Formats: sequence, C-alpha cells, structure tokens
Amino acid sequence: MSPQFQQARWSEPLLSEIGTPGERGYVPTAPEAEIAAHAPDPLAAIPPAFRRATAPALPQVAQPQLLRHFYRLSQETLGNDVAVDFGLGTCTMKYSPKVNEHLVRMPEVQDLHPAQHEDTVQGILEVLWRLEQMLCAISGLDRFTLQPPSGSAAVYTNASIIRAYHASRGEGEQRDEIVSSVFSHPCDQSGPWSAGFKVVELYPGPNGYPELDALKAALSNRTAGIVITNPEDTGIYNPHIAEFTRLVHEAGGLCVYDQANANGILGIARAREAGFDLCHFNMHKTFSSPHNGMGPAMGASGVKEELARFLPAPVVERRGDRFELDWNRPESIGKIRSFVGNAQIAVRSYAWILALGPDGIREVAETAVLNANYLATRLREVPGMSQPFPTSNTPIEQFRWSLEALREETGVGSADVSRNLADYGYQPVFGSHHPFIVPEPLTPEASESFSKEDIDGWADAMIDIAKRAQTDADDVLEGPYRNACRRIDAAALDDPERWVPSSRAERTKGAVRGD
Ligand SMILES: Cc1ncc(COP(=O)(O)O)c(C=O)c1O
Repeated sequence: MSPQFQQARWSEPLLSEIGTPGERGYVPTAPEAEIAAHAPDPLAAIPPAFRRATAPALPQVAQPQLLRHFYRLSQETLGNDVAVDFGLGTCTMKYSPKVNEHLVRMPEVQDLHPAQHEDTVQGILEVLWRLEQMLCAISGLDRFTLQPPSGSAAVYTNASIIRAYHASRGEGEQRDEIVSSVFSHPCDQSGPWSAGFKVVELYPGPNGYPELDALKAALSNRTAGIVITNPEDTGIYNPHIAEFTRLVHEAGGLCVYDQANANGILGIARAREAGFDLCHFNMHKTFSSPHNGMGPAMGASGVKEELARFLPAPVVERRGDRFELDWNRPESIGKIRSFVGNAQIAVRSYAWILALGPDGIREVAETAVLNANYLATRLREVPGMSQPFPTSNTPIEQFRWSLEALREETGVGSADVSRNLADYGYQPVFGSHHPFIVPEPLTPEASESFSKEDIDGWADAMIDIAKRAQTDADDVLEGPYRNACRRIDAAALDDPERWVPSSRAERTKGAVRGD
C-alpha cells in the first residue's frame, strides 16, 4: 500500500453545533437602519400567519472558526483537485483550468441576470453566438442550442427534434422507433424513450460494435432515427459508422451522434463527415467545466440547417454588430430549460477553445488517445484483468474492461478494488457502467489531463490491490483503511423506507411496489 497517503480525519461537528451567540464571520457594511431606509420591507408581502414567530437558529460563528470548519471537511475528501481522478464510470473528470473559474466570477458575468434587456447583455450574447460558431466548426453541423442542462437533456432535445421533423412530414405516428446500441451511453436509449419513442437496441458483434446486419434487421419504415455513441462506452470505435448513417438515411431516419465525450475525437472526426444530422457535446465534460455533481452542466445540441427550425427557443442571432434573442420560432420544440442555458459554462468553454485554438484542440484528442492506450497497456499487468473484446484493442478514450477473473479467483470484485484505490490517494473510479453487461466492469478514462507519472501511479495501485487480493482477499474486502470514511453503508439505497421523503421518492416507491 502507498506509504505516502493518509487522509486527515477530523471529528468535526456540524456547523450548527459550533459557535457562540453573537459571533459573526461577516459584518454588513451598511447599518441595518440605513438598509431599511432604502429597501422595501421584505416581510410586507407575507401574510402575518405565514411569518415565523422567532428568528431561525442560524450558526453564529467567527471567521477563523468557519474557515477551519470547511478546510477540515475539505481535507476529508478526494475531490478532483486533490486526487488523480480517472472518471466515474462514463463521467469524465478531467482538469478544468482555474483561470476559467476566474472569468466566470468577474462581475461582468457573475452579476448578469437572464431577464436583463438585450441591450445590456450584448457581451454574453456575443460569447454565446461565437461559441455556437466554434461548435459548428468542430462538428461540421450548422446550428447549436446551448439550452439543455445536461448531456441526457441534449439527447432528449435531439430526439424531440427528430419527432418534430417526422411530424412536419406527416410521418409522426408511423415513425415511432429509435435505434441505439447497448454500449452507447444509457441516455441514448432513455432520452428517445422519454421523447415517446420505442427503442430498438443493437448488441455488439465479436469485435465489440454492432454488425451491419444487425442494423439492417432493425431498420424499417417505423425507423425515426438512430442515436449512437462512437466510440461506445467500451472505448471501441465502430469503423462502419458512415455505412450505418447511410443505411439509416436510406430507411428514412435521422442520425444523432452522441459526442458528449469528444475527448478522443476533437479536431479529428466530425459528425458531418460521418453522416450525422444531429449531435451533442457535453460542455461540462469535454470543454472545461467541472463535471458530475460539481456544478451545473450544459449539453450543446447541434443540427444541420434543415433541422434548425425545430431548435428550442430562443436562439442567438447576429444582426450586423448586434446580437439578439430570436423567440419567433413557430416550429420550435419549445423550451428545454429556462432562458439560454447555463451562461457561465458557455464562458468557460469559449475561453478553453480560444486558449487552445484548432491545433490545441486536436492535440487534446491525440493526447487523450495516447493516454488511454498507455493506460490500457499498463492495465494488462493487473492480475485478473480481461478485455471483453480483445480484437479491438486500441481504445479511443474511456474503456470498459472486466475484473471477472479476479472475482472468481479471490472473491474481490471491481467495486472492492475501486474502494481500495482511496487508500492510495486516488478517487475511486467505477461508478456507472450501465447496462451491466460486462461482468465486474471498470471504465477508467485518463483523458488528456494526466501525465505518464499519474497514469503509472494509478496503474501501480491497481496492480498492487489485485496482488493483495490474491494473497489476502479479506484485507482488500475490508478496505479502505486510510480515509476519513471507510465504507459507506449502501444498503439504504435499496431500502425505500430509508429514503429521504420527497414526492419523487414516493413515486419511485410506488413503482417498486408496482402501484
Ligand atoms: C457518451 C455520453 N453521453 C451522454 C452522457 C450524459 O451526460 P450527462 O451526465 O450530462 O447527462 C454521458 C455522461 O457524461 C456520456 O458519457
């Protein structure tokens, strides 16, 4: 086990349990009376019956004490800035430059309100417009919306555009099927399903991607389109993708390219040349914004010119030197999210693309592919590791391999190995591998952000954990040992009675019970 790593362990009380009445971390600059003189009474609009009788018991904590509290808590995490993080299943966790955080905290960005008059937000509208031009150049498509608040929402948006397209041609009812592949990201099936389609799934052939014959068998005059990830979540690139899109078009369908994770293909392969009509990028995954639960997201959905009329309203238009929000879009699928989307993410992405330029963007992909393949080479040394589709042995970016043999030999599975990574100071990596087709899956992604040293350290930890499993499985099954929190009790996730009460939990409980 790594001798260097030992996470801090604080027995830190809750914020509400520390402090002393009267202590303050911040004293407002204006006296209360002065504020009251200039501002309307905030309680005036609330009927007396709804006002609380006593003030809430907010923590009363001095600034140094508050800082200590949060620093201690931050020492008990393996967050993205503390640990090498090779992703959470299919969630890229690459480095997001800090300078971009500085940009979004500038008052010119931070203090904007989405309901401001257009004349006062020309700057951000220009950023949105220019970012759209960049994404058009990167994808080869003609128009983008930045509204969807996630990659999954972008897939839903694109599926809704397909529905609107067929409806506009009088084929809305007939074309009710979307083809996808099981190793495309799960939202490529759930998004179209949420948009009202039946989903026809393709299974991989011997090389790890669906065969042309499987596609041909799935196509019919009910086909509305295909939604597919390439490389798939396994890291395997379907080399027949242009033939796939040709066949779908021949059947009367539209083709959607899920490019949420474009780390391995930026500047190299474009949606247009592969024959796609729509695509999406996860700006929070590929273009510099913290991914996952670390902040709001943006899925940018792109379309060819003939589908632009269906994009969610508003879109940003340039008229001379002025930028305007165009709401007059009678054929639009409607709104996917309020206003124009998460503008701060647009600023980060715009800065990232500008800083890299076309050559830098391509270098991102080349480095990500190199890193993926170097990582794959090192992981072949892990005892009990296997590659589900060995003929396709050059992953493009993230890849999904299996620790089934280790599990059979030692009883230690991929989730156990993952937990033990925390003892080496690495973020546990394997979160989402749906659908669980590959047994004991792991889906790491070194992206372009990590050095050879990082990759070697991570691979060495994997090798060490697997070897420890072979000599003393219980030692691994009980780990990790050096973290503030050793093992989370996941049993509550499967016990509806222990869920936080919410309307959503009640609905899910009903579904579990079969109500
Ligand atoms: C290929 C692919 N498509 C779609 C998504 C879904 O994106 P999100 O998590 O923002 O909904 C992901 C996950 O990041 C992904 O890897």
